[in-house]
Amino acid sequence: MRLWKQEPSLEQARRADRARLVEQRRERRRVVASLGSELSRDRRQVKVLRADEARLARLVRELERSLVNAEKLASIGMLAAGVAHEVNTPLAVISSYAQLLQKQLQGDDKRTSLLDKITRQTFRASEIVNSLLNFSRTSGSEFAEVDLNKIIHETLALLEHQFKTTQVKVQEDLLPALPPIHGNAGKLQQVFLNLFLNAKDAMASGGMLRVATQNGDGVRVMIADTGSGIAQEHIQRIYDPFFTTKNGGRDGRKGTGLGLSVTYGIIQEHAGKIQVESHVGQGTTFYLEFPLMRKAVNV
Ligand SMILES: Nc1ncnc2c1ncn2[C@@H]1O[C@H](COP(=O)(O)OP(=O)(O)O)[C@@H](O)[C@H]1O
Ligand SMILES: [Mg+2]
Repeated sequence: MRLWKQEPSLEQARRADRARLVEQRRERRRVVASLGSELSRDRRQVKVLRADEARLARLVRELERSLVNAEKLASIGMLAAGVAHEVNTPLAVISSYAQLLQKQLQGDDKRTSLLDKITRQTFRASEIVNSLLNFSRTSGSEFAEVDLNKIIHETLALLEHQFKTTQVKVQEDLLPALPPIHGNAGKLQQVFLNLFLNAKDAMASGGMLRVATQNGDGVRVMIADTGSGIAQEHIQRIYDPFFTTKNGGRDGRKGTGLGLSVTYGIIQEHAGKIQVESHVGQGTTFYLEFPLMRKAVNV
């Protein structure tokens, strides 16, 4: 009787033990699983943090670089303001006397061709001086609502003939109803003129210039050419004042090395950004970005 009664209770106890064990094992598995998912969540967070850190480091490097560029521009600007006015006056005198003499010597081809050279070189010198002056002309320029599509289209029209003679095809992908930006139309035209002329110079034996506008966080402009590209060792220096690779070879033009540094300064004045991507032998793309109108007004 007793035995009979004890046996099932032992069995019951064993079963209960087993059930507890199974439950404990289940619980342990649950804990391990939740620890695992916590761990992978932590790992994901570490990855995100690392990416943030890398992005921050990149940002710091970019800021440092643009600070260096801005300092260079500021010192060049001060120098230019002092020198440019002084040089412009004698240049104007030389060129007007040369032209006067040219008129007086009509018929004397040899001498008039020499005078023509003098005149052209004084124009070139004053072109350089005027580009220099742009560094110091930061104040007093009118900023207003401007339509980048219109400026781009007009600047391309200005160069149409030059592009045709060098067999450069132009593709305009301008976004209709592009929001306006806060800017100075004259200076922005100079930016595009510089970039388009550089593209043309890089495509001496023809190619394709593609200009596209887009709307994102700001107004974006992409200027892509299929030209010579920029060598890796030059790409850090293209915004430096007087950096040029155009040394007037056989058919090549002589550069001033001022186009991109002026461009950089103007884009900074517009609180914008400029970036470049280039592959030697394939081409170069410049990316510009300008803040949208309402943000710029609040600055
Ligand atoms: N689209 C481009 N393709 C290839 N090289 C370029 C391009 N734009 C600029 N560069 C390089 O950057 C240099 C500096 O340009 P810039 O400041 O306009 O001076 P410049 O045109 O007088 O040489 C150029 O001499 C050229 O080497
Ligand atoms: Mg140039």
